[in-house]
Amino acid sequence: MIENRKEEHIRIAEQKEVTSSHNYWDDITLVHRAIPEVDFDEIKTSVAFLGRKLNYPLIISSMTGGTELAKKINRNLAAAAEKFGIGMGLGSMRAAVEKKELEDTFSVINDFKVPMKIANIGAPQLLKQGKPAFTNKQIDEVFNLIDADFLAIHFNFLQEMVQPEGDRNSKGILKRLSEVASSYPVIAKETGNGFSHKDALNLIDAGVKAIDVGGLGGTSFAAIEYYRAEKVNDREKMRSGLTFWDWGIPSPASIIE
Ligand SMILES: Cc1cc2nc3c(=O)[nH]c(=O)nc-3n(C[C@H](O)[C@H](O)[C@H](O)COP(=O)(O)O)c2cc1C
Repeated sequence: MIENRKEEHIRIAEQKEVTSSHNYWDDITLVHRAIPEVDFDEIKTSVAFLGRKLNYPLIISSMTGGTELAKKINRNLAAAAEKFGIGMGLGSMRAAVEKKELEDTFSVINDFKVPMKIANIGAPQLLKQGKPAFTNKQIDEVFNLIDADFLAIHFNFLQEMVQPEGDRNSKGILKRLSEVASSYPVIAKETGNGFSHKDALNLIDAGVKAIDVGGLGGTSFAAIEYYRAEKVNDREKMRSGLTFWDWGIPSPASIIE
């Protein structure tokens, strides 16, 4: 089931218009400096971020895994990450926990010298839903599978709400996050709806090393779920997909606030 869902997400993102109605980065104008006082040839793009050296201040955010198509995408992305010396995250590794034979769709990243590798699990999976929560051992397995530098935990509770088979319990997540963050270097990430100032403070209190705000303005997962619901003519889910299509905190506001 996960494999089908992952494949559908990729295909819908590829074929349909799934971005939010407004790109909030278009509202940002950089202030012109007429007197730059820099020698262009001396500009270095490399940065040290969370103790790793990247050739550019760029990280390919967590996207996929769990299907043959995803393996190909991860291989291509890892090759690019090696070539340009930038970081890379993998998509939710729940599929590898539930089905061992899907592990290589993620571990393909190990074939490349990626300077920052980020494993990925969902915050909903840290809690008991219809099924048991991930155990510490399972978290260890996904982290070690790719010899990760960081563990991204994605907060996609909105997506879970609009997804037909969504995991809807978030009670106790901050406590569980604190436990996990005391054992792993955690990056908290949203998946397109942003973090508020208050939630960011909660994440810092829980001990995360960084926050990927993943705010509104790019891909809308509610839009992706709208198209999945449309395929099976689930009118209620189509309605919630439409309602939340443009929901969230724009990425620039998430950073500035
Ligand atoms: C097809 C697809 C699959 C994704 N899967 C994951 C995932 O497994 N884990 C995760 O943390 N984020 C996932 N994301 C969310 C992205 O990492 C990102 O946070 C989101 O698309 C917002 O970024 P954007 O504004 O650049 O589109 C996925 C995005 C897309 C389009």
